[in-house]
Amino acid sequence: MSYIDQACQAFRVLLEEQQARIAAMDTRKTDFSAKETVTIGIIDGDGIGPIITAQARRVLEKLLTGEIQKGSVVIREIRGLTLENRMAQGKAIPEDVLAEIKTCDVLLKGPTTTPKGGTLESANVAMRRELDLYANCRPVSIPEKNIDWMFFRENTEGEYVLGSRGVELPGMAVDFKVTTDLGTRRIAKAAFDYAKHNGKTHVSVVTKANIMKKTDGKFTAIAHEVAKDYPGITVEDYYIDIMTANLLDEKLRTQFQVFLLPNLYGDIITDEAAQIQGGVGTAGSANIGDRYAMFEAIHGSAPRLIEQGLGHYANPQSILKAEAMLLRHICRTEAAEKLEKAMERCPVKVSADGTGATTEDYADALIGLL
Ligand code: IPM
Ligand code: MG
Repeated sequence: MSYIDQACQAFRVLLEEQQARIAAMDTRKTDFSAKETVTIGIIDGDGIGPIITAQARRVLEKLLTGEIQKGSVVIREIRGLTLENRMAQGKAIPEDVLAEIKTCDVLLKGPTTTPKGGTLESANVAMRRELDLYANCRPVSIPEKNIDWMFFRENTEGEYVLGSRGVELPGMAVDFKVTTDLGTRRIAKAAFDYAKHNGKTHVSVVTKANIMKKTDGKFTAIAHEVAKDYPGITVEDYYIDIMTANLLDEKLRTQFQVFLLPNLYGDIITDEAAQIQGGVGTAGSANIGDRYAMFEAIHGSAPRLIEQGLGHYANPQSILKAEAMLLRHICRTEAAEKLEKAMERCPVKVSADGTGATTEDYADALIGLL
């Protein structure tokens, strides 16, 4: 068989798999306000992951002491989502770990390392796919600069879903990007619902539809279709390149409220936005599906910090912000507010150069304020 024939066959398999994925999309939502027991899984991850999640767990246990004693909240530690174990088993998420994960309702996850090249898929990407966590919600807020942004990044499609499944032929390599109607509709709905329930009047749809005509074209078209159900909310289209510039324009950027983006653009622009807020160490991230949800820091496992022996100076604010989002998601609004208020007041400054307070110092001070 020629290389081209082989590649076509591989492509056919991918298309069939995507069709099956669409058919299996499940839209039954978990109602946390009605649930007797909520199980929170804690995954520590790689690099600085175990250091920041240990402190986030202490804070969580302090906030939910009564509920943990009563049994209405169960905290479950999930082990084995480490690079060593994933490499040894050749799986982005080993079977037994995934089974454990699925016994939880929500997860608080430390960053995991993804090796460059090779075939091992990112644990994050695999988890978003396996749990169908289609909405990546990333807030960025700088009140003194009049910035209050919420990013809705599609989290299960785009360049990511087949990112480890491209084909290599002699002299060339091809990757695939996928956008589906259902997948776009549900993320667009999430963004517009958020806008509606939070008094926002503008949703900016950010793509590169002038170049990625089929996939981004579909994304934009469906966003506009969904918008029809939300009178009073204005939709505006932007291209990703100019939007990255707009976020640096101090006058322009204050007008943006809610962003709706395909996966890869959402990945890139949320790092930029987090940097504007004060660094990727300051931003939390929610990965939300209809059944499960996973909350994490926006940044990676910081292997360089570990190599330099500075792991204990990792800033835990990002994962703590994610923890507040987790609490809100499971309808523990009071605990979420308590945590957010304490973070605003916490005077301790952690700095990754090792000159200031440690991760644990920060948590100690924070717990003192709760
Ligand atoms: C993020 C990260 C991940 C991504 C990596 C770790 C796979 O950058 O959550 O933004 O690219 O989605
Ligand atoms: Mg990213």
